Amino acid sequence: MSPVVTRTPEELRAALAGLDGTVGLVPTMGALHSGHASLVAKAAEENDHVVVSVFVNPLQFTDLGDCDDYRDYPHDVDKDVAFLSDKGVDVVFAPEAEAMYPQGVPEVWVRTGRMGEVLEGAWRPGHFDGVATVVTKLLSLVRPARVYFGQKDAQQLMIVRRMVSDLNLGPEVRAVPIVRAADGLAESSRNQHLSPEARSRALALPRALAAIADGTDLETARAELAAAEGVELDYLEIVDPATFTADPEGTLALGAIRVGGTRLIDNRLLG
Ligand code: PAJ
Repeated sequence: MSPVVTRTPEELRAALAGLDGTVGLVPTMGALHSGHASLVAKAAEENDHVVVSVFVNPLQFTDLGDCDDYRDYPHDVDKDVAFLSDKGVDVVFAPEAEAMYPQGVPEVWVRTGRMGEVLEGAWRPGHFDGVATVVTKLLSLVRPARVYFGQKDAQQLMIVRRMVSDLNLGPEVRAVPIVRAADGLAESSRNQHLSPEARSRALALPRALAAIADGTDLETARAELAAAEGVELDYLEIVDPATFTADPEGTLALGAIRVGGTRLIDNRLLG
């Protein structure tokens, strides 16, 4: 079965009107891979219908998308739709920026608090406000029973959980474990920018997280990762996953590195 592809909120609404029963929403930025597929599989298992959004949201990039990271973000909706065929997806919502933000940059945003300002939020100021704003728009457009997020973006997952609870947005937020490639690297749309050499250097991040899980202390793991060839370390921390406050007794280790021009994040639950 091929999904119905919708390009505007009006087309989406018309497609949703034809669905009976529960809807699971999987928000994505496209360039779909096996990590996304596992969210879709869980959504298909738990709901009568599945909607996948494919939208590279400029609000969550530096300078509202006026940056290379946004311009270079892989973008091929036909390929994504083909990837989703026979995965139980009813509707794909793939708007252009003009359809999502017809008046340009929104006047009213969802503002995240301290949880949106630490770690990823410190390296990417405003990023989580952009995520929270677009996720709110997607939830009001689709009104799903459940919405699916990957543990890969642990901070995003926890912020969305808090947002849905703080703002009574309604859906159940479902978390899906990290999907890794055979070499241990977490699947990511950005991996396609890595040369074979950069990819093998990038493995220092999952290795550092595994070392922490095996009992290496944070300082040692951090020093080793910072010294790894070709790796620039942004952060490696252990936090309390409910608050994202640094906590040596916390149960979530997370890190971000840059390898060549590519920024990668990863995390691991401890214990
Ligand atoms: P994107 O990076 O496309 O990711 C979409 C969803 O797939 C996120 O919930 C992410 O955590 C999950 N995901 C990505 N790689 C994964 C992996 N290896 N294993 C498990 N899940 C994985 O995250 C975004 O898009 C955007 O910020 C979005 C939420 C769509 C808002 O624009």
